[in-house]
Amino acid sequence: MKLNKTLSLAVVAAAIMATSCGGSGTKTETTSSTPAPAAPAQQEVSPEERHKDNPDFAAGLALVKQSDCPSCHMVDRKIVGPAYNDVSEKYELTDENVELLASHVINGNVGVWGEIPMPAHPTLSKEDAELMVKYVLLLKK
Ligand code: HEC
Repeated sequence: MKLNKTLSLAVVAAAIMATSCGGSGTKTETTSSTPAPAAPAQQEVSPEERHKDNPDFAAGLALVKQSDCPSCHMVDRKIVGPAYNDVSEKYELTDENVELLASHVINGNVGVWGEIPMPAHPTLSKEDAELMVKYVLLLKK
């Protein structure tokens, strides 16, 4: 939302500049048709972008944000619990793994990543826990 707004403001500003500078219309066209130069060939696409058509990703992310998960987990850095990126590296996205990890989230678990236990989340439904785990495993690059 905020980005879109900034973007459209920038477009408006560019349009105003183009009109107020009279003859600069052609010049603007030349610059905008130049292909972006320094972009690396293998530019990394964010997981949000890659999975924008996957409703499970968005649903899982929303559930994770609403829950207490962010107080112990970050996407790319270990805090109390492992980084989601590390979890997604460790487990393939399969039905068995989703079910296993969802049961760890609901019942709590310890010993896979270290000595610190993950507390149980008994109020989470299996469906919600599985969506959360799917979101985590979809982060895999
Ligand atoms: C109080 C801190 C804490 C909270 C809150 C927490 N976690 Fe964890 N989580 C951990 C720790 C610590 C581990 C590592 C446990 C282990 O070594 O077995 C872990 C492990 C995990 C794993 C990997 C499990 C495995 O067996 O490999 C997943 C997936 C996960 N958490 C997801 C979540 C989700 C989703 C939530 C929110 C519903 C959540 N966590 C909330 C601390 C937390």
